[in-house]
Amino acid sequence: MNEKIVVIDFGGQYNQLVARRVREAHVYCEIVSYRTPLTEILAMSPKGIILTGGPNSVYEPGAPAAGRELFETGIPVLGLCYGAQLMMQVLGGEVRRAPEREYGKTEVALDTPVSPLFAGVSDPTICWMSHNDYIFRVAPGFRVTAHTDNCPVAAAENAEKRLYAFQFHPEVLHSVQGTRMLENFVRGICGCRGDWRMEDFAERTVRELREKIGDGKVLCALSGGVDSSVAAVLLSRAVGKNLTCVFVDHGLLRKNEANEVEAVFGPEGAYELNFVRVNARHRFYVKLAGVTDPETKRKIIGEEFIRVFEEEAKKIGRVDYLVQGTIYPDVVESGLGGESATIKSHHNVGGLPDYVDFREIVEPLRLLFKDEVRAVGLHLGIPEYLVMRQPFPGPGLGIRIIGDVTEEKVRMVQDADAIFREEMANAGLGGQVGQYFAALTNVRSVGVMGDERTYDYAIALRAVDTIDFMTADCSEIPYGVLKKVTSRIVNEVSHVNRVFYDLTSKPPGTIEFE
Ligand code: XMP
Repeated sequence: MNEKIVVIDFGGQYNQLVARRVREAHVYCEIVSYRTPLTEILAMSPKGIILTGGPNSVYEPGAPAAGRELFETGIPVLGLCYGAQLMMQVLGGEVRRAPEREYGKTEVALDTPVSPLFAGVSDPTICWMSHNDYIFRVAPGFRVTAHTDNCPVAAAENAEKRLYAFQFHPEVLHSVQGTRMLENFVRGICGCRGDWRMEDFAERTVRELREKIGDGKVLCALSGGVDSSVAAVLLSRAVGKNLTCVFVDHGLLRKNEANEVEAVFGPEGAYELNFVRVNARHRFYVKLAGVTDPETKRKIIGEEFIRVFEEEAKKIGRVDYLVQGTIYPDVVESGLGGESATIKSHHNVGGLPDYVDFREIVEPLRLLFKDEVRAVGLHLGIPEYLVMRQPFPGPGLGIRIIGDVTEEKVRMVQDADAIFREEMANAGLGGQVGQYFAALTNVRSVGVMGDERTYDYAIALRAVDTIDFMTADCSEIPYGVLKKVTSRIVNEVSHVNRVFYDLTSKPPGTIEFE
């Protein structure tokens, strides 16, 4: 196993970003809850430990704590925000309510001699602050290495004990040289070589899967999305024809998507596997007829998906392993037993097929972030348009058609969406916007086409900039592009006579319409 950094999670909203940044420095990194016993952490043989921020005050009774021993192992520790305050408090410094709350981009001035964590960093440097408490007095043995106008201790260190504290958040991109600082920590202080590479990951994973599975039979539900595609290719490389991929076309996919998936994974494609395409659209339309409530639609689509999948599994016969495309954010978000348990339950469509009788679940991407999954996908030779594809919800267009779903409405939203995507690509914007799509509002209004009065549907266009999909801003798509898309949609998509552009941010809106 590679050299490793352990990130101890104190419930901060940026905990995943910390791990991301460390991995960007090519150092493998795992997040654990602050409740994890120190013996377990030491058993992971970390080269360094990072303590994240968190929403509490260290001096409140019951606040997430750490023992003195954490700072006495000789392993370098970097505390961030709450983590920094905790380090000071535990080691004999003092944390108080700050006279001025600091929030946002803040100028941080470096003190001399310049800390090795600030090697290559400009003075002053802009960092992201978000705190109500501050370090009033550093612990014995520490010296202050940076300050701001409002914060006498923006950074401190005890170089001899290899303990470091930042009041700011280097992991947030607004901290202009934050990545550099984290790199200085993991490479310079912890001595990591930085040899975590996605190519190695792919090769090693294929080898491990092959050893584990032997000649067992593997079943994978392929959605055509990034995660399941990459998982399927890893498995295909490991066990070839012992892998069966079931692809359910529920009739709620984007235009041509089902054929595209089949072209890549089907018999004409490049991979050795058994590909089963189930054309189940009519089943889904029948089940969805007249249903208007968004959650009920989700439930119906999820359940029907499982039924179809089970029926196929039954035909295949023996199944030893079931593949899941779980990725690291799913693991972290469903709770590490620590503080960060933001659960997006509605995003797990349907759950596990309880009918399929299998021995074990394999999750080859469990430790990867999305962009790492993409890097593995590219390394494995999966076409770029599949690997770089934007997220698409499991219930598909079912939740992009407000109100009841009909085949005709699916066609409208598919055609409008295809035009939007085409024009975004023509404008060179495709890869730059977090997520964008067309949705069918249930609004009908009067229009005029030639000499005729129309009474047709309105399409809504949505495009958002987002990093984590938990919050999002409406994307500033150039007017020219929006007008072109609008004009093409009303001209080319029958029964659509109006197009809206949604300017709502999330919150209060969501990204999807249902
Ligand atoms: P919202 O609409 O909650 O979307 O702002 C955030 C992200 O989650 C996706 N999403 C879903 N994905 N099943 C999924 O697999 C769902 O039911 C679902 N609802 C939303 C959405 O596309 C966006 O990326």
